[in-house]
Amino acid sequence: MKKLSVFLFLFLAVHSLIAQNQITLNVDLAEQKISRHIYGHFSEHLGRCIYGGFYVGENNQLIPNNKGMRTDVVAALKKLQIPNLRWPGGCFADTYHWKDGIGPRENRPSIVNTWWGGTTEDNSFGTHEFLELCDQLETEAFISGNVGSGTVQELADWVQYTNADHESPMSKWRKENGQESPWKVKYWGLGNEAWGCGGNMRAEYYADLYRQYATYLTASSRGSDIYRIAAGSSSGDIYWTEVLMKNIPSKLMEGISLHHYSVIDWGQKGPSTEFAEDQYFTTMQRALAMEDHIQAHSTIMDKYDPEKKVALIVDEWGGWYEVEPGTNPGFLYQQNTMRDAMIAGTTLNIFNNHCDRVKMANLAQTINVLQAVILTSEEKMLLTPTYHVLEMYKIHQDAKQVPIHVKSGHYKFGNRELDAVSASASVDQTGAVHISLVNIHARESQNVEIALRGTKQSTVSGRILIADKLQSHNTFEKPDAIEPQAFQDTKLDGDVLSVDLPPFSVVVLVIK
Ligand code: AHR
Repeated sequence: MKKLSVFLFLFLAVHSLIAQNQITLNVDLAEQKISRHIYGHFSEHLGRCIYGGFYVGENNQLIPNNKGMRTDVVAALKKLQIPNLRWPGGCFADTYHWKDGIGPRENRPSIVNTWWGGTTEDNSFGTHEFLELCDQLETEAFISGNVGSGTVQELADWVQYTNADHESPMSKWRKENGQESPWKVKYWGLGNEAWGCGGNMRAEYYADLYRQYATYLTASSRGSDIYRIAAGSSSGDIYWTEVLMKNIPSKLMEGISLHHYSVIDWGQKGPSTEFAEDQYFTTMQRALAMEDHIQAHSTIMDKYDPEKKVALIVDEWGGWYEVEPGTNPGFLYQQNTMRDAMIAGTTLNIFNNHCDRVKMANLAQTINVLQAVILTSEEKMLLTPTYHVLEMYKIHQDAKQVPIHVKSGHYKFGNRELDAVSASASVDQTGAVHISLVNIHARESQNVEIALRGTKQSTVSGRILIADKLQSHNTFEKPDAIEPQAFQDTKLDGDVLSVDLPPFSVVVLVIK
């Protein structure tokens, strides 16, 4: 007996020496659903996101389209199963007057896009076009209303126009414009970044204004299921969240938003491809700060809403760098490398692990802007490393989150250090367990031992996203340079799964 315990002690000591990273999955404790809406996207009238990205006009002979929507883009996004699409902004939303964007196109007024490059916005892509796009994508619409420069009546009319099935001036107008049945848009944002481009308001002022808008939105929705999202704070500004949570009754607010970008320094964002390891490290510090921000905002929300009736909606997130040389600075066009795959993999793991409070998130932005999943150049299109992460992670959508404990090794750079490994897990209705793992270390692989508690499984399959350099990216000449590959570097021994993660890689495993 004594010999056995000495042996066991030695075995455990050696085991913990060998594995740099240890993870425990409590599969039997899975309860909370990972809302598929965490995998949402964002499309603003900014640069080439809408025009040239999604929409090329129905008379375009060069680029195949269906009612003006690029068919290549729609097919690629359907493969991601995108659950929702936020539109028309961003900052643009608080300058947008929706009535400019309906009716015959030749009668629509042109306006100046004051936030983004001062370009002419001809309003050829408006409400009908956006909701047609959502239909083609089989995704839910999330409309951001204008609170900064609009009126309560204007927003209430928009809800009536899209949602009313009873006789009203707005439903009559919709029918005259060719749409008989209402679209029943559920998700409505009430302004955007009200502390900044959305009106430079104080939290106290916005909270009161929000109550007024929410009241009339509810009245005009007349029973249709609407979900109202308050314009929330930026990164660590918990004061804003506290004022809103304290002053807005939960019967008027289903969600409160949070924006957090992984930006090195707003004055010096650094290039999107030619970055050095210290810039990479700082980007990852900013990305992983999402964990602290969610914890901080959730703590305040728990104080006022212990039953978690109000959701935290991270409706803008992603990496933000300098624009590609030679492109319009107001268009925010940037390339997308393995660094972006690291941001995407770690951030989605954080959201999955906080799915009790985080019910929706929107990557900024879908096409040609910031951390895009798709880049286009005229008729050409490429899928970025970020796209591939979202595609690999889609198995988590609506699966049950598996409570996880991660003891990570370190990624050290100079006198700074971060956890090297990030992970989240889920279990689906068939009992298959999914684990997503990211090794952010720029130079070293990580071995990971995963204890599978509360489940009996015997086969493992997986895919990996990997490249030779952190700066690697897909180009229009080589659009498939980075793509997921089959991953076999795993060993399942009883309840323990051992995995070797190469430097800066994303791995998704399915255990059955
Ligand atoms: O995503 C780009 C901009 O970033 C959005 O318009 C705004 O909400 C945020 O500041």
